[in-house]
Amino acid sequence: MAEAYSSGRWSVHNEDSVDSTQQWARRRIASLPDRTAVLARSQTGGRGRSGRTWLSPPGGLYCSLLLKPAPPINFAPSVSLLAAFILTEIMRGSGIPAMVKWPNDVVADGLKLAGIIAETGSAPTSWFVLGIGVNLQSEPSIEGRTVLPPGAWSRFGGPPAPGELLQRFLMDMDSLWPKRTDNPLGSVGGPVTARLWNLGERVSVKSEGIGVDGVVDGIDENGFLLLSTDSGERRFVSGELLTVHGERV
Ligand code: BTN
Repeated sequence: MAEAYSSGRWSVHNEDSVDSTQQWARRRIASLPDRTAVLARSQTGGRGRSGRTWLSPPGGLYCSLLLKPAPPINFAPSVSLLAAFILTEIMRGSGIPAMVKWPNDVVADGLKLAGIIAETGSAPTSWFVLGIGVNLQSEPSIEGRTVLPPGAWSRFGGPPAPGELLQRFLMDMDSLWPKRTDNPLGSVGGPVTARLWNLGERVSVKSEGIGVDGVVDGIDENGFLLLSTDSGERRFVSGELLTVHGERV
């Protein structure tokens, strides 16, 4: 049953089943106010990055956050990283060994626990929609992949309710990034780096179809990945982290 309520500075819409919370928000950009969140019990057409499907049975967290106007475009990677960091810290508070996987995932024991997608546009007004999917069950939530160590949540008293997790997330988001015109990583750049999965390890970054090998040095103030390669330090705004053999890490 659809309902709406306020959570801090946010309006939260609770929906039962939707095609995709991203689409739900995008269809209503003109009428929804800034800081609207939509949370669905399930999605029939959940979307992941790079055109992948995000399987969305009841039990997971599926939400999208509308920012209107959009934050400065160069903040987009940092907003996603900040979101991944907040989720990571909440999970760690429940004893889940979560880490931030650049550019915008949360992993536990190397398996994907949450994924984030950031979309932005300028019509009918400037907008930014951040989509967050958290696997709160032990079933895979992305095609063909196990994403959570079996029993991970149950070891800590069961998964949190999606609505409670979202409220905590929104509270942390507002306190860590109160002003849209400030750098989202301004106060947490160091702590995010400390939580980076693969920090100090040799990986391959696949970006625009090309793989570059090097050691993960951290992130810069814009959320770019810093990679120490044989030919010097490289920065990546987007890409995928793989093992040097081209497998997912
Ligand atoms: C990824 O890792 O590929 C990003 C996954 C993002 C999934 C979430 S679930 C809520 C929101 N609605 C969608 O259709 N996708 C995002």
